[in-house]
Amino acid sequence: MADPKDYVVADISLAEFGRKELDIAETEMPGLMALRAEYGDAKPLTGARIAGSLHMTIQTAVLIETLKELGADVRWASCNIFSTQDHAAAAIAATGTPVFAVKGETLEEYWSYTDRIFRFEEGGANMILDDGGDATLYILMGARVEEGEDDLIANPTNEEEEALFAQIKKRIAETPGWFVKQRHMIKGVTEETTTGVNRLYQMMEKGHLPFPAINVNDSVTKSKFDNKYGCKESLVDGIRRATDTMMAGKVAVVCGYGDVGKGSAASLRGAGARVQVTEIDPICALQAAMDGYEVVTLDEAAPNADIVITTTGNKDVITIDHMRSMKDMAIVGNIGHFDNEIQVAALRNLKWTNIKPQVDMITFPDDTRMILLSEGRLLNLGNATGHPSFVMSASFTNQVLAQIELWAHGDKYGNEVYVLPKHLDEKVARLHLEKLGVNLTQMSDEQAAYIGVSPQGPYKAEHYRY
Ligand code: NAI
Repeated sequence: MADPKDYVVADISLAEFGRKELDIAETEMPGLMALRAEYGDAKPLTGARIAGSLHMTIQTAVLIETLKELGADVRWASCNIFSTQDHAAAAIAATGTPVFAVKGETLEEYWSYTDRIFRFEEGGANMILDDGGDATLYILMGARVEEGEDDLIANPTNEEEEALFAQIKKRIAETPGWFVKQRHMIKGVTEETTTGVNRLYQMMEKGHLPFPAINVNDSVTKSKFDNKYGCKESLVDGIRRATDTMMAGKVAVVCGYGDVGKGSAASLRGAGARVQVTEIDPICALQAAMDGYEVVTLDEAAPNADIVITTTGNKDVITIDHMRSMKDMAIVGNIGHFDNEIQVAALRNLKWTNIKPQVDMITFPDDTRMILLSEGRLLNLGNATGHPSFVMSASFTNQVLAQIELWAHGDKYGNEVYVLPKHLDEKVARLHLEKLGVNLTQMSDEQAAYIGVSPQGPYKAEHYRY
């Protein structure tokens, strides 16, 4: 029997509200509901003990309940200190699923919650479902420290590392050998986002990946939809809920023109802002120019910008010098995964005035003020509620298929990073057509033969880029 108090949420009495929103979200998540119908009886995830680290939102609650309906045992934490929707966490906790997530939790709590998602009664998790790679990092780094690489946690360079290293030390002191045992138990990880996928490829190249990984992000029905159309809706939503600023006519700079940048630039343009883009990649810079955006450097654009948003997954993109050069009351935010896109640490010794949760006004020595959203953490989840359910359904349908694949057929895979096969990508898209009233054309056998594909798909070669 699970311990009924095996959870940490802000307010369990929000469960009923969370459940009502969950019921609505289900009507907008046809992919997940179709998987419940297809696999609910067979329960292909029976025996899987999934440690989940992904923004604890209403949409994620529908994902969790889908994993459970397919037979999995699940423990969950958020992958960001500001992204939890407390009513969603309460609704999940109320069903008896252990969840550790509070909007506005501290970094120390964050890492202790990450620890708790692995602590199944049966002795540990055997699968990880990750977003940004923190759950994977926690286990792999802890195991390497136990194997003698103490220097890995010797010198924290920022407050995040300080909290992570302290948690690793605490776990090792309490249960020596736990990390190595836990690492051996993991059959595989499925990773949600660009930043986490980059970490996995880097680990694989260094020979540090001890189990197979599925890169969910690079399913076409994930990155070309969630990262793009999701941010197209949720970026402006976050800025508006935080500031109520008039966006039409304002000068907005978007740093990065990858999938998230494309959606973000479109979001701001849709709100009537005059949008400029910065890029380091000539291909993406050319795309931005030909989509009609002025491509600039942030050095030249920062002094004239009303809104500056970074979307790169890189670090130090908006520097302290950029922020010093901005005009009074410029709005600065990040929609990439980690807060180091903005040099927030360099702002810490300035005057901070908290306006409301996740909105701060920072005053520079010359009295120029700047509005910083979510302390530099991803603002669409910190200041608003993230992407709408429909687009998250496509992402999470890929997640569930990836979990089934690694759990049921993990032995087929080496310790590398894989993407789901194209026929599953097409399946995910297909599951989302009816809800939109899309009438798909069926080509004839002759047409299929002429372009060299099967009438049932896959319809594109692997090298096709969409
Ligand atoms: P991507 O790789 O497609 O795009 C990033 C772009 O930034 C690239 O085109 C790159 O050339 C550019 N870039 C890198 N350094 C730069 C610099 N110094 N200045 C200007 N441009 C620079 O990656 P994607 O998928 O767009 O993801 C970006 C970030 O957003 C990642 O951290 C990802 O994990 C995160 N993400 C956030 C979501 C959210 O809801 N907030 C949703 C999906 C992804």
